[in-house]
Amino acid sequence: MGDTLDYDEAEARQEEAIYRTPAAAARRERVRDLLAPEPGDTVLSVGCGPGFEPAEIGWAVGNEGHVHGIDRSEPMLELARERCAPLPQVTLSQGDADGLPVADESVDGAVAVQVFEYLETVASAVSELNRVLQPGGSAVVCDADFASLVWRSPDPERMAHVLDAFDDHCPHPRLGSRLAPVLREGGLAVNQVEPNAIVNTSLDDTFAAHLMAFIEDYAAEHEVLGPTAAQAWADDLREQAAHGETFFSFTQYCYLVHKPA
Ligand SMILES: C[S@@+](CC[C@H](N)C(=O)[O-])C[C@H]1O[C@@H](n2cnc3c(N)ncnc32)[C@H](O)[C@@H]1O
Repeated sequence: MGDTLDYDEAEARQEEAIYRTPAAAARRERVRDLLAPEPGDTVLSVGCGPGFEPAEIGWAVGNEGHVHGIDRSEPMLELARERCAPLPQVTLSQGDADGLPVADESVDGAVAVQVFEYLETVASAVSELNRVLQPGGSAVVCDADFASLVWRSPDPERMAHVLDAFDDHCPHPRLGSRLAPVLREGGLAVNQVEPNAIVNTSLDDTFAAHLMAFIEDYAAEHEVLGPTAAQAWADDLREQAAHGETFFSFTQYCYLVHKPA
C-alpha cells in the first residue's frame, strides 16, 4: 500500500482504536496461543504498531524474558512506548521488516501480524525473519486475504466496486492465501495454518466500523473511488446497521512456522 501505512499522529491514534476492539484482542490471543512463548523467551514483534502486541507478549515472557518491538513508523512507536513503559522487558526501536536491526539467530520466537501484506518485498522480510530466528525457533505470520471479506450491503454492486478499488490499498491483498510457498522458499518450515475470522453484526465500535472509516478516508484521498461514491457506500452500511442488518466477516490466516534446526 505504500503511503497508507505512513501514519501521522492522528492516523496512528485512529489505527490504535482498531486494536482496542475485542476482535483485535482475540486475534492477538490466538497468535500468542499459536506461538506459545515461555517465560524467559526472547521474542521479536515485527511491525509492532501501537504496542498491544509487544506489551501482551511481554506479560507472557515475564521479567526474565525480552520482547523487541520494531516498527518503521515513529508515531506508532510513540504509542507503543507509552503502552509498554511499565514493562522493562520490552524494548522498542525503529526499523524495517526487510532489514531488521537484530543480530543473527538471536530470538526464540517472532510475530509479524498484518505487516507482510503491506510490504513491497515479502521475500526479503521472510529471509530476515529466518536470519534472526534461532534454529528451532518459531514465528507466527498472519495476513489477510481480502477476497475473504463477506460484507452484506443493500447495494451489492456498489460493495463489489468499493472492495475492488480498496484492493489497491496494499501491494498484496491476497497474501493470506499465498504465504506458504513464500515462507518455505525463505527457508522456514510451515507447521500449521489457522484461520482467524472476524465476524461483526453491528457497527458499534467494531472492527467493521473502523475498517469502514479507513476505507472512506482512503477513498477520499484516492481518485479510483472518490469521496462521493465512498460516502454513498458508507451511508448504505449505516442505514443497514440502523435496521440491525449488519453482517461482516473477514478472515486472516495465521501461519505457524519454524526454522529447521
Ligand atoms: C496493521 S499494523 C499491525 C500492528 C501489530 N502487528 C498488531 O497486529 O497489533 C501494521 C504495522 O506495520 C508497520 N509496518 C509497515 N511496514 C513496515 C515495514 N516495512 N517495517 C516495519 N514495520 C512496518 C506499520 O507502521 C504498522 O504499525
